[in-house]
Amino acid sequence: MLLDNKIALITGITNEYSIAYHIASSYREQGAQVILTYQGQRLHDAVQKIADKIGAAAIFELDATDEAALDNVFGAIEQQFGGLDIFVHAIAFAPKNELTGGITNATREGFSTAVDVSSYTLISMSKRAAALMRVRGGGSIMTLTYIGAERALPSYNAMGCAKAALESAMQYLAFEMGANKIRVNALSCAPIKTVAARSIPGFMDMYNSFGSRCFLQRNITGQDVAGPAVFLGSDMSQAITGTVIYVDGGFHSSAMM
Ligand SMILES: NC(=O)c1ccc[n+]([C@@H]2O[C@H](COP(=O)([O-])OP(=O)(O)OC[C@H]3O[C@@H](n4cnc5c(N)ncnc54)[C@H](O)[C@@H]3O)[C@@H](O)[C@H]2O)c1
Repeated sequence: MLLDNKIALITGITNEYSIAYHIASSYREQGAQVILTYQGQRLHDAVQKIADKIGAAAIFELDATDEAALDNVFGAIEQQFGGLDIFVHAIAFAPKNELTGGITNATREGFSTAVDVSSYTLISMSKRAAALMRVRGGGSIMTLTYIGAERALPSYNAMGCAKAALESAMQYLAFEMGANKIRVNALSCAPIKTVAARSIPGFMDMYNSFGSRCFLQRNITGQDVAGPAVFLGSDMSQAITGTVIYVDGGFHSSAMM
């Protein structure tokens, strides 16, 4: 199988609609050991259920903005697993008024929160993941982004700026980590019905019209993202780094916006 003998840390599962859930399930099917994190006690039962269902090796509570918690979780992974091959960053958040108010009404606090949670955590977590990947002779890091990083659309605002910072951070991490055979990439996904996506005003309109505006003429699913995530985690992609791969049915190439 493509991920035999791989140890993967996967963040960002809320429920079975989460993109990270589909990635974790496919990783298990391809032979990886999977470690899951969940944000806060309120998600414990749901994520424990998912961990049991897919056969995850461990689950840890983790608020990615809490540096002490990061040290604890990566320390525990080092103790229990000895190293890491794959890290999937599937974390994003912006306060509601940053999505509804337009970019000219962005607040310093809300904007900073969006960048802190959605972009900086890739850096703070990748630094710790890389230390565990070096003992395994290399690894693969991936994050999830959106075309709102490159082009403007309604109701994305601070999150678009945060995704632009995320994609840039991905490139700088790839630049620095390449010498240690650690690859860093991003999957740019089409609109997919998840808790995070539904919090974007007008998301369902965008979702419902998506099929008429992309080449494949259908919506994209979490399962569609899981395949490329398996590829990026596997040795099949060992020469790919610093790249955004679009999982959007061709939407990014289309002029039918
Ligand atoms: N669904 C889409 O349409 C879409 C499109 C492109 C990119 N993405 C990206 O995919 C990623 C996963 O989102 P999703 O759509 O699966 O939604 P989701 O709501 O299922 O997942 C988002 C996750 O981020 C986690 N998170 C937020 N703040 C956190 C923090 N401080 N510490 C730890 N975890 C935190 C949440 O707990 C949640 O599990 C996000 O980066 C999102 O921007 C989603």
